[in-house]
Amino acid sequence: MSYRIKTFEEYKSVYKKSVEDPEGFWAGVAEHFHWNKPWKSVLEWEFKTPNIKWFKGGKTNITYNCLDRHLKTRGDQVAILWEPNNPEDDAIRLTYRQLYEEVCRTANALKSLGIGKGDRVCFYMPMVPELAIGVLACARIGAVHSVVFAGFSAQSLADRINDSACKAVLCSDFNARGNKNIPVKKVVDDALAMGCPSIEKVLVLRHTGDPVSWNADVDVWWHDIVPNQSAECPPEQMDAEDMLFILYTSGSTGKPKGVVHTVGGYMVFAGYTFSNVFQYNEGEVFWCTADVGWITGHSYIVYGPLLNGATSLMFEGVPTFPDAGRFWEVCEKHKVNIFYTAPTAIRALMAAGDEWTEGHDLSSLRVLGSVGEPINSEAWHWYHDKIGKGRCPIVDTWWQTETGGILISPLAGITPMKPTYASLPLPGIQPCLVDASGKEIEGDDVEGMLCMKFPWPGIIRTTYGDHERCRQTYFATFEDKYFTGDGARRDEDGYYRIIGRVDDVMNVSGHRIGTAEVENAINENPHVVESAVVGFPHEIKGQGIYAYVITDGPVSDVAKFEKELLATVTRIIGPIAKPDMIQIVSGLPKTRSGKIMRRILRKIAEGDTSNLGDTSTLLNPEVVEEIKVGARR
Ligand code: WT7
Repeated sequence: MSYRIKTFEEYKSVYKKSVEDPEGFWAGVAEHFHWNKPWKSVLEWEFKTPNIKWFKGGKTNITYNCLDRHLKTRGDQVAILWEPNNPEDDAIRLTYRQLYEEVCRTANALKSLGIGKGDRVCFYMPMVPELAIGVLACARIGAVHSVVFAGFSAQSLADRINDSACKAVLCSDFNARGNKNIPVKKVVDDALAMGCPSIEKVLVLRHTGDPVSWNADVDVWWHDIVPNQSAECPPEQMDAEDMLFILYTSGSTGKPKGVVHTVGGYMVFAGYTFSNVFQYNEGEVFWCTADVGWITGHSYIVYGPLLNGATSLMFEGVPTFPDAGRFWEVCEKHKVNIFYTAPTAIRALMAAGDEWTEGHDLSSLRVLGSVGEPINSEAWHWYHDKIGKGRCPIVDTWWQTETGGILISPLAGITPMKPTYASLPLPGIQPCLVDASGKEIEGDDVEGMLCMKFPWPGIIRTTYGDHERCRQTYFATFEDKYFTGDGARRDEDGYYRIIGRVDDVMNVSGHRIGTAEVENAINENPHVVESAVVGFPHEIKGQGIYAYVITDGPVSDVAKFEKELLATVTRIIGPIAKPDMIQIVSGLPKTRSGKIMRRILRKIAEGDTSNLGDTSTLLNPEVVEEIKVGARR
């Protein structure tokens, strides 16, 4: 596609133009997509409320752009290449034509269940082709998908279903991950038993074939209603600003919020960023190892690749099954050209030993990508040398659920790389660093809080059902700026290096988890009086979770109590939020106004007790000594 930049010189000139004339720039990008009706205005915006509208008046359907548009030129090319959990099982290849037909059948099946434009549909599914098919089927008919990562608990699922009043859940019987067989349908049953009054139907895919319990009033088998549908389903004409999907993500306070993305802007942004960052060439195999339950999977397994007519590899399994060579075996088997994963996976595989990378032919690899958390220098070099054999550029892509797509990243093979730097903003992206007072920090070699001064098409529009929360979280901290929640450094070349979150959000194995969320879960345990949770540096996970817990009395069996706590957190949130360290304490350091001094708790969790600052003004300075002495390592 001709919106792809080819040289660094071109990047610099396109970037300059995109800042001078953002509307002209994005209109030029948007013209590469199919619109049933052109937009009346490219952009209307103000960050105060916020109110952001891209391509207003334009009508399109993202699935027309992902599927129909490619049928003539690449109908027989593979769109989705599925690699199963078990390497002994067969891979599945769905061509663009087959995917088109499956999406249409599934869209018609959804209609037969009474689902239509604007209805919310929840997905709680493993990484199988039907997840991508179902998501596209929703988009086909204008239903709003809300994918919940299938590792979350029944409680988390119920909360998300209820927050956006979903009409149906799509799930499977079980989920095969590594040597585990996880009862997916059972979790959905448990969620519904907690009360999900909006749910009318549960559409169940038979995947592993293990038996499930059945409620004929709501449960419907996928194979009973999908295959017999027509393979044609006209795409619903969507307004550019109609809702495309909701994706829940954690913040520093309270419950996860539903980030809302809309059809036109998201489409343009996902398509443009995929092509430019990865420099995808026709016919190449692109593999993003994320789960479709996260934004990375939405934008760079499903929408971005399909918008560009790419072959997207979708992997059901885990990096360490049957052994730590699986990723490289899959790269060799499917001749993967572009490989996109998270630093936590790189560190885990690096720790497993170089022998797992050896003996695999990785010569097909051309570009490597990293996403989700800062990549440390050691992991960057290992990735570059052992996987890329020194030949493949690494794109360290910085972005967020709220940004819809990549904002800061090298363009593969074009932008000169600096290890650990996400580098330069993509065209149309205007980052800045601000200090605590909100003043913009100019110049080189500076550090501050990362903000965006101008909207881009993929920016969050609202948080579902609570627009005020969207304003508060992203647009109220600094006037006229979108606040990312991250701290960053800018060097003498204008390169950005992301330092990490500056709010109470942790990044554990690339998963975003709020400290408050984990505290609320821990506090559900009947023996817990109060708790405080902080992140601490973790060799593999990036950050680990450290929990300080006050109990209602002496704990006789600490190991048993800790196990109970982990079970509580797993029950309320899911296993990804389990604390790595638990310390039972008699009190938490608090200011005289009763605020927990997290800075002190963070230092102790980091193992750095040398400089805790002045603790004498605390309400309870004596507790600091106790916590220091009892700190877990
Ligand atoms: C947070 C967003 C966006 C895809 C997955 C995560 C951190 C993301 C990088 C990177 C350093 C990164 C930030 C950001 N993050 N990519 N390349 N370098 N940090 O999406 O769950 O919405 O989390 O992930 O802290 O704010 P998310």
